[in-house]
Amino acid sequence: MSLGDFPLKGKIAVVTGAGSGINLSFAQLAVKQGARVIVADLKLTEDGEKFMNGEGAKAAVFTRCDVSKRSELENLLKVSEEKFGDVPEVYIAGAGVFEPVCLSPMIQMKETEIGRRGRTSGTTQKKMNMPRST
Ligand SMILES: NC(=O)c1ccc[n+]([C@@H]2O[C@H](COP(=O)([O-])OP(=O)(O)OC[C@H]3O[C@@H](n4cnc5c(N)ncnc54)[C@H](O)[C@@H]3O)[C@@H](O)[C@H]2O)c1
Repeated sequence: MSLGDFPLKGKIAVVTGAGSGINLSFAQLAVKQGARVIVADLKLTEDGEKFMNGEGAKAAVFTRCDVSKRSELENLLKVSEEKFGDVPEVYIAGAGVFEPVCLSPMIQMKETEIGRRGRTSGTTQKKMNMPRST
C-alpha cells in the first residue's frame, strides 16, 4: 500500500474514523512517512490502542470525536494546535457515517428480506423516507 507521490513528511493530518480499519491503516502509513496524525474517532479498537501505544506514541494523538457534531470537529483544530503547534494541513474524512443503502439495489428488496440480511429495518426505511416495496 502506498500513499503515492503525495508528500506527508512533516505535515499534520487529521484522520477521522481512524480508530479502526482502512483509516487506521492510513494513519499508520502517514506516521511511517513522517506525518503527525490526529486519530479522530468515537473509540479505538484493540489495533488502534496498539498503534497509539507503539509506533504512534510520539507522532499521533487520539481524540474522541463524533464527526456529526460540528463542535467536536472544531475541537480537532484546537487539539492540533495544542499537541503539534499548528492547524492540520491534511484532512482525511474517513469516518463512515452514511452507508448509502438507499442508493443500492437493496432498495428493491422487500422489507422482510432486508431485515433478514440485517442491513436495515422497516423503521430505518421510514426514517430515511425510503420507498417501500409491496
Ligand atoms: N473496507 C472496505 O473494503 C471499504 C471499501 C470502500 C469503502 N469503505 C468505506 O470506508 C469507511 C471505513 O471503512 P472500514 O472498513 O475501515 O470501516 P470500520 O468500521 O473499520 O471503520 C469505521 C470507523 O469510523 C468510526 N466512526 C463511525 N461513526 C463515527 C462518527 N460519527 N464519528 C467518528 N468516527 C466514527 C468507527 O468508530 C470506526 O472506527 C466506511 O465508510 C466504508 O463504507 C470501506
